[in-house]
Amino acid sequence: MSFTNRVFAGIKPSGDLHLGNYLGAIKRFVPLQETHECIYCVVDMHAITVWQDPKILAQSTREVAAAYLAAGIDAKKHIIFNQSQVAGHAELAWIFNCVARMGWMQRMTQFKDKAGKNAQNVSLGLFAYPSLMAADILLYKATHVPVGEDQKQHLELTRDIAAKFNNDFEKDFFPLPEPIITGAATRVMSLRDGTKKMSKSESSSLATIYMLDDEDAIAKKIKKARTDPEPLPQNFDDLENRLEAKNLVSIYAALADISPQEVLNQYGGEGFGVFKPALAQLAVEKLAPMNKEMRRYLDDKAQIDEILKDGANRAREIAKTTMKQVKDIVGFIS
Ligand code: TYM
Repeated sequence: MSFTNRVFAGIKPSGDLHLGNYLGAIKRFVPLQETHECIYCVVDMHAITVWQDPKILAQSTREVAAAYLAAGIDAKKHIIFNQSQVAGHAELAWIFNCVARMGWMQRMTQFKDKAGKNAQNVSLGLFAYPSLMAADILLYKATHVPVGEDQKQHLELTRDIAAKFNNDFEKDFFPLPEPIITGAATRVMSLRDGTKKMSKSESSSLATIYMLDDEDAIAKKIKKARTDPEPLPQNFDDLENRLEAKNLVSIYAALADISPQEVLNQYGGEGFGVFKPALAQLAVEKLAPMNKEMRRYLDDKAQIDEILKDGANRAREIAKTTMKQVKDIVGFIS
């Protein structure tokens, strides 16, 4: 069976957006608009798997929407919406909870990392989270999903759920969606510790560049980024054991839309005294205009809410068709 080339991707409004979210996801969402029908979601139902202050959640939801718009997603040609406005996500997730196996969920490394020693005390939602993510994607029969590397295992689970549903009920009903994990920065690391992923929960404020950071903050964080005393090598492979340096070169490459090797063709042999100011200048040049645009959108909440509502109305239409079919297939009277 053939499926429409459709992209679905989501970002959790669970804190301030950072450079990892931008380079690993949002920036890569933009060119897909040329070739695919795209649905970009603010996954607020995922955010509440850990406690969110309700007032801050609404603001963070608008911040993700503003980032999509500022990066260049066309909300008229494509769809931007927040997940909780389309009930089909929760409905399909329940059915997938009954398709997915406990053993599959127990293998999810992100759950293990997030729950840590506290596994008995985290929400049931945090454990079931990957089945809601599968529902997000398959509700629209999306064929392609651009994500950072940390979401790869969740995508594999999505494919397992789709395959089991097809196998249990109706052959070829759901596509097996392909992850798109491409580019130089699919795993941006902390600026203070090259073994840790850049994330919203990092304790040192110097470790993370936020999308709403001003020019001075961006430049300062790059200047203070941890490095080693060696000059940059000529070959990218020689950065294998120099995690912090490798991270900065990868960030440069992703921001400049070139390969990490091309960065080294230019800066190989130079020390960080030369490379860091060049990176800071590039980062400011690329991020500052977007920052300004995000703030402009955020000044008009009503406009963002209207865009989300309009997107949700269009998403709901697609979702309705899938849910009607799914209910028939499962044997629910509707
Ligand atoms: P979330 O909100 O944690 O992250 C959003 C996107 O940013 C990417 N990302 C990174 N990429 C590179 N380096 C980093 N340090 C970095 N940190 C985050 C993530 O890989 C992701 O692409 N479960 C998802 C949200 C989700 C979703 C979906 C995604 C829910 N339903 C359906 C795609 C399709 C999440 O928590 O992403």
